[in-house]
Amino acid sequence: MKSVILALPGNEQLAAGLAAKLQTEVGRMTVRRFPDGESYVRIETPVDGRNVVLACGLHDPDTKILALLFAASTARELGAARVGLVAPYLAYMRQDKRFNEGESITSVHFAKLISRYVDWLVTVDPHLHRRSSLNDIYSVPSIIVRAAPLLAQWIRANVEAPILIGPDSESEQWVSEVARGADAPHLVLEKIRRGDRDVSVSIPDPGALRGLTPMLVDDIISTARTMMAAVRHLAGLGLAKPVCIGVHAVFSGSAHADLLAAGAERVITCNTIAHESNAIDVSGPLAEAVRNLLAMRPAVPASESAL
Ligand code: R5P
Repeated sequence: MKSVILALPGNEQLAAGLAAKLQTEVGRMTVRRFPDGESYVRIETPVDGRNVVLACGLHDPDTKILALLFAASTARELGAARVGLVAPYLAYMRQDKRFNEGESITSVHFAKLISRYVDWLVTVDPHLHRRSSLNDIYSVPSIIVRAAPLLAQWIRANVEAPILIGPDSESEQWVSEVARGADAPHLVLEKIRRGDRDVSVSIPDPGALRGLTPMLVDDIISTARTMMAAVRHLAGLGLAKPVCIGVHAVFSGSAHADLLAAGAERVITCNTIAHESNAIDVSGPLAEAVRNLLAMRPAVPASESAL
């Protein structure tokens, strides 16, 4: 069955990269705002009987979600056989618990919403902290592209004598995997977060860093307060300036500039969110994941499975 990729605004490069790797076409879709701020969506390429792949990174999700859901529903109305979503950055993964009474566990609500509109999902390293799998909250099939091998490859090719540093205990499993791939030692910081922008860290064994290039590794860099606290802590101990490497370049406000000003030697990210720090390309494994999902046979509805 022929597939067609439709790009939500800002995802044209992602769609073109996927189309080239999957040898399929990018369809025409117009998405714009009416003067009153409401979204206008029009799918111009015929999708009847085709697999539709929506390319839509979900950084800054509140500005994107309605157009995405409109595009998914419209594709279905126009006869699409299946509608999948490629979101290299998957939003709303961090509020995975009611930390204070009355708080919304938005990761669950967002997952339910997306699962109602698409048939499958591909993403890169979603922030799975208290959940072990996307299946815990998403009810549609998904494939997670793992950035660890790509990060390890970049480190091997670009950094001499690295030591990898994870920002907190929850990063241990992930950082240790990157470290194994990069054939480098690693350690994990002790982190205390008192608020969105109030973070402190300490290094359990500063001696382990002497003579090595410190590399701070995290999945998301958002306010960059976690990385900045670590950068300053290393400087305070008289250690070398670290290279900071993150998967998702969320960088709220001036976070990127703040991190460089705090003393990061260099800041490197994957291209899951377009940013000047992007140096690691995830498009190959993303396309592979989409290929696998497109090849998957659609699930037979329970009522028909007994035939
Ligand atoms: C948190 O658990 C994540 O792994 C990151 O450490 C966190 O999202 C970084 O946030 P920020 O850049 O705002 O300190």
